[in-house]
Order: sequence, then C-alpha cells, then structure tokens
Amino acid sequence: MSKESKTKEQLLEEEARLRQRIAELEMLEAEHRIIEDELRQSKRELSIRNEIISIFLTTPDDEMYAKVLRVILKHTESQYGFFGYIDQEGNLVCPSLTRDIWDQCQVPHKNFIFPHEQWGGLWGQSLKEKKTLYSNKPLPVPEGHVPILKTLIVPIIHGTKLIGLLAVANKAEDYTPQDQTMLETIADHIAPVLHARLQRDRQEAERQRSEEKLRESEAKYSALVEQAKDGVVIVQDEVFKFANKAMETLSGYSVEELIGKSCLDIVAPEHRDFVAQRHRLRLQGLPVPASYEIKMLDKNGAKKEVEVSVGLINYQGKPAITAFIRDISERKRMEEELLKIQKLESLGILAGGIAHDFNNLLAVTIGNLSLLELEISGYGDTASELLEAIKTASYQAKRLTQQLLTFARGGAPIRKVVYVSNLLKDAVNFALSGSRVKCELIIPDDLWPAEIDEGQISQAIDNIIINAEQAMPAGGLIRVWAENVTVEPTLSLPLKRGEYVKISIQDQGVGIPEENLPKIFDPYFTTKQKGAGLGLSIAYSIIKKHCGYIGVESELGVGSVFHIYLPATREKISTAPSGGVSEEKFCCGWGKILLMDDQEMIRNMAGQMLTRLGYRVEFASHGEEAIRLFRQAKESKDPFCAVILDLTIPGGMGGKETIQKLREIDPEVRAIASSGYSNDPIMTEYQKYGFKGIVSKPYEIKELSEVLHKVIMGNEGPAQTFG
Ligand SMILES: Nc1ncnc2c1ncn2[C@@H]1O[C@H](COP(=O)(O)OP(=O)(O)OP(=O)(O)O)[C@@H](O)[C@H]1O
Ligand SMILES: [Mg+2]
Repeated sequence: MSKESKTKEQLLEEEARLRQRIAELEMLEAEHRIIEDELRQSKRELSIRNEIISIFLTTPDDEMYAKVLRVILKHTESQYGFFGYIDQEGNLVCPSLTRDIWDQCQVPHKNFIFPHEQWGGLWGQSLKEKKTLYSNKPLPVPEGHVPILKTLIVPIIHGTKLIGLLAVANKAEDYTPQDQTMLETIADHIAPVLHARLQRDRQEAERQRSEEKLRESEAKYSALVEQAKDGVVIVQDEVFKFANKAMETLSGYSVEELIGKSCLDIVAPEHRDFVAQRHRLRLQGLPVPASYEIKMLDKNGAKKEVEVSVGLINYQGKPAITAFIRDISERKRMEEELLKIQKLESLGILAGGIAHDFNNLLAVTIGNLSLLELEISGYGDTASELLEAIKTASYQAKRLTQQLLTFARGGAPIRKVVYVSNLLKDAVNFALSGSRVKCELIIPDDLWPAEIDEGQISQAIDNIIINAEQAMPAGGLIRVWAENVTVEPTLSLPLKRGEYVKISIQDQGVGIPEENLPKIFDPYFTTKQKGAGLGLSIAYSIIKKHCGYIGVESELGVGSVFHIYLPATREKISTAPSGGVSEEKFCCGWGKILLMDDQEMIRNMAGQMLTRLGYRVEFASHGEEAIRLFRQAKESKDPFCAVILDLTIPGGMGGKETIQKLREIDPEVRAIASSGYSNDPIMTEYQKYGFKGIVSKPYEIKELSEVLHKVIMGNEGPAQTFG
C-alpha cells in the first residue's frame, strides 16, 4: 500500500499523533520556560545574596544597613523600607530608614530605636509573631508619616531567634507571593551574616567595656597608690618589684633604684632579722601580725620610725608581699613630746611644793637682810661687803626658786612698764659673776620701754646668758645688744605687726648642730652632762606668754645668737628706776596693819619691817583669825588701815576667801595680796578679787613700803568690785 493510498483512519491516527507531539512539545516548552524563570530567579537571588554579603564584608556599620536596604529596595522595586536588628535589650534598632522617608517623614520623634513594648502596627505584629506579613492596601499611619500604600515585612530569624527585620513599601504593583519568597530568601541569607556581625559587635562592645573598666580601675588604683602619702611596695623573693612615688621620699632612693633592691637594705640593721623572719613566716602561710613598727634606713643612712602594714598577694603568678609603709617619726616625736610635758608637769608639782617652802625661807632671809642693812649702816665697809655677798647669794636663790615656781604654776606674767636696760645689766652681772667670759652690752639711749614681768624676763635672759657662757669653756666674749624694731608682716616672724624691743645675745661658742636646732627649746633637751635641759624651754614659755618671740641663729664652731622680741610700749614709766637701798626713799606711814601669814618667821620679819616704817602691826596665822581681829578692830573704833594677806595657808582659810569676808565687813578694806607665786592668777588680776595691791615674796622693806603707801594713799587706780 502506497503513501497516497493511506486510509482515512491512518491519516486521522497520524494527525492525532502529531497533535500529541505538539502538545508534548508545548509542555516541554512551558517546562523549559519555568526552569528558565527559576534559573533567572535563582541567579537573581544569587546576585542579591552576593551583593549583600559583599556589603556585609566590606562596609562599616554606619553605612552597611543603608547599603543593604538600597539593594533590597532595588530588587523588590519598592519606594521605602527599613532594615533593623534586635539589640541586647530586645529593642528594634534601625540604623537605616530610607533617606526619602527620613526627609519626608514629619513625625516628631524619628527614633532609630523602637523599644520592644512600643512595637505596633503590621511590622510590630510581624516581629512579635516572627512571621512574614504583607498588605496591598494603604495602612493607617501617624500624622505626617509618609503614606504606606502597600507593604511587605519579613522578620530575620537565626535558628529560632528573632534578630532583625526587613520592611519594604509602596511597590508600583501589588506585592506577590514571589516578592514574599524573594524577601524571605534574602532574609535567610542575611540571617547568618547579620548574626555573626551582631555577635562580633557585641563581643567587641563587651571587650571595650571590660577594657574601659580595667583602664578605669587601673587608673583609680594607680592614682590611689601614686598619690598615697604612705610608701607602697610589692616584694617578691625579698626584692622590690614595685614601689610608688612616696617611697622615694621615704627611702631617699628613686623608684628605679628600688626595683630589684633587697627589701632588707632599707631596714635598720637592728630590725633586719625580725623583718626577714616575719617575711618567711608570712610566705609559709603562718599567722603573723599584719602590721608592725620598725626603724627604716634611708639612702643617707638616717633612721626613720615607720609602721608597716603587710599583706600576701599573688604577683605575676607567684606569691608576693604588699606593704604599706607609713612614716611615724612625727607621731613618735609627738608622743615623746607629750611624755616630756607630762614629766614636766609632774616635775612642776614637785618643784612647786619644794620651791614654795623654800621661797618662804628666802622671804625671811631677804626681808631680814634688808632690815639688817639699815641696822648696820655705819659699821664699816667689811660689814657692808659681807652683807652684800649674802644678799647676792640670796638673790641667786630667789631667782632659782622663781624659776621653779614659774614652772610649777606657769601663770601669766605680771607686767610693768620698764626699760630692759637695767634688767639686762643685772642679768649679765648675775649670770657672769665669777666667770672668765667677758660681756659687751650695747643699749641705745632711745630704747623703747617694754611691758614685761621683770622677774620672768630676767629669768629667761639669765638662762640664755648662762648657756652662752657654758658654750665658751675657754672663755670669750658675749655681746648683748638691744634695739627698737617695727615688725611688719613681711618680716615673716610669728609676731603681730607692731613695735618691739629686740634683744640679741651672741656668743663665740661651739655653736648648735643643725639637727639640734629644732630641739633646743624642748623641755629636757640637753647635750650637757649636768644639764637639765630646762633653761631654754623656760625662756621660751616665758617669752611666749609675753606675746613675744625667741629665735636662734647658729654656726658650728663660730657661735650662736639668740634674738628675743618683746612688745614695746610708748607709755611713760611710772615707777622710779631701781637704785640702792636708802631710808629716804621709803614711804613711811602710820596706823595699824593686819598681817596674815602662816609662817611665824615671815610674820616676825614683816612685823619688824612694818614697825620700822612707822606702822603698828597685828598678826594672824590664818583667815579665821584675821577676820576676827579685823571685826574686833572695826568695832573698837581702831580699824586697820590696811591688811596684808598671804594667799596660800596650808590647812586654813587663805587670802582669796578671807578678802571676801573682810569686804563683807568693810567694803572699803585696803587689802594687799602676798604670795611666792608671782604668776598666780590672783596676783595677776588682784583687783578682780578685791585686792588693792600685791607684794611678791620674797620682798624687801622698800617694796613693802611702796605698796603700803600706794594702797593707803589710795592711788592704786580704780578699784574693781569683786564678783
Ligand atoms: N649658746 C649656745 N651654744 C651652744 N649650744 C647651746 C646654746 N644654748 C643652748 N644650747 C644647746 O641647747 C641645749 C638646751 O639648752 P637648755 O638651756 O634648755 O638646757 P641645758 O643648758 O642643757 O640645761 P639647763 O639650762 O637646764 O641647765 C643645750 O644642752 C645645748 O646643747
Ligand atoms: Mg641652759
């Protein structure tokens, strides 16, 4: 059968086959198209993915988010969008909102951070549900916000953890499931790199925070250690591994010199064994006290008292010792000072007791001597000379007891306006009697008077001159001069501005070593075998009480100069300068005097003086007796014209209480206080207590006559009421 002769059936069959073939080809073509589409899609995804990854790898944070967003917007053909990540606190942080949105958006708070609790709208829902959402209908937006007509939102999930969000909006056409798939695929690509990047950022931030903390704490500790006044060291294997700045001052070595040095090198030899043993025991973990006091040896070989507080640490992987070293030399010195003062106080009490009795005996001696002097006038030179010698010795004894009494009571000076010239002459004569040392005294005629307690200042000057003399065992010259000075604050003296009489006492003696200079005014400081170390401390305390100043300059082997400043006054001097004893100068009187003193010898001596001066005398040995006699005399219309009351009556009523009672009987009573303690506050401020005058024991007839005259004649100045 030929081709032409094919049957109709055959033809129909062929046609069917052909149709089938066409359909198959069409299907193949469709499949081919799909594959092609998929290939294109997958190529596109690959290119997006590569683009994004390259951005992640090459772009710094601040630009990365914006760049990635730009790629996504391009591929999703969207107008706006944002790309954010979830921070450690769980908030959404958007380093990139599309610049257009940013510019066009009028919302007041264009925050980059959206706190978790404020997540809202479609993007909030997507975040909360970790689900892709899209809408092709306009969304409600706050006023001023760009209009969102269509949007597609995809959360970025790593593992199961939400780590970010991609959102795009306003594509010209509707968003399709293909768009969703594409954006989800992009999100899947971004997830691991974003996660890695966030992890890295977090670790970096963490590291920076710890570094910052470490730096801060290091700075804090090094400031603490470096600014500490105490020395701080780390010692390992007995050598210094670390030392702070304060250690330089403390040890005299620089920090560089200290590092590597044996710690025992800066310990005084007598304490080295002790320190080494402590060190050993501590390192063995045995219980040893955490702090101790030792002597340290500095670079110059000087010893310092230090307190060491020690601890055990691990330093560079090995046990080491930290030590805080405090200089306690000053504290020790203060403690010693306090001890000295306490000793001095107890000495004062003891000395005071002895000196008081001794002074009363001297009062009798000196008083009687002054009477004897009157008796023997005309007995010839020998008698006068002998008497003079006794007087000199008695006056030396008087000064000594006064010295002790000043210490015992340490009271305020009883000031009088005087020229220091006579006082200086007397002091020099007294201190240098019998000495090989010569003295040159230079006093200008126009020297201002000073308001001082003569007894006390003489004592101070005596002490200085005696020291000067002792400093020149082979003899020499002491120069004493006085001058007027005006102290201005610029002179940097510890004195108030004003006028002063300056007394300088210069010797050519051994001089004072520099290290002793700060100590010479300390009580008990002496370099002499038989010295008590009291002379200068007494001088110092006296001059201080006069609101003056004492200073010293000295050069070894050349000599020393002591300078004393005493407040000057322009007041006229009321009392006549002291001269020799002569009866013409006594102020004789009349009338009856009551003398109260517990010592019979004094009563006798003063009684004789008073009789000699023309007065009648009655005696009382204590306050009660004095009051009785005073009252009797008043009632019998033969009252006393003055009373002299001893302030201290052991076991009885003394002058202070007696005067009160006498004033009750007669408010106008003319009373004189008498005491060996010239520094007693009652002697200094007698008027406050109701007395009209004072007489310090020991006294001579002349002094007694003057004070009686003054009190009886009523020129003692305005009387003050007591109480
Ligand atoms: N002019 C001086 N030259 C050298 N050293 C002096 C001089 N004056 C004082 N000193 C030193 O000061 C120390 C203290 O003097 P201070 O007068 O207080 O006590 P002292 O003379 O030792 O004993 P005291 O005076 O109690 O008998 C002396 O021991 C001496 O070392
Ligand atoms: Mg002395």
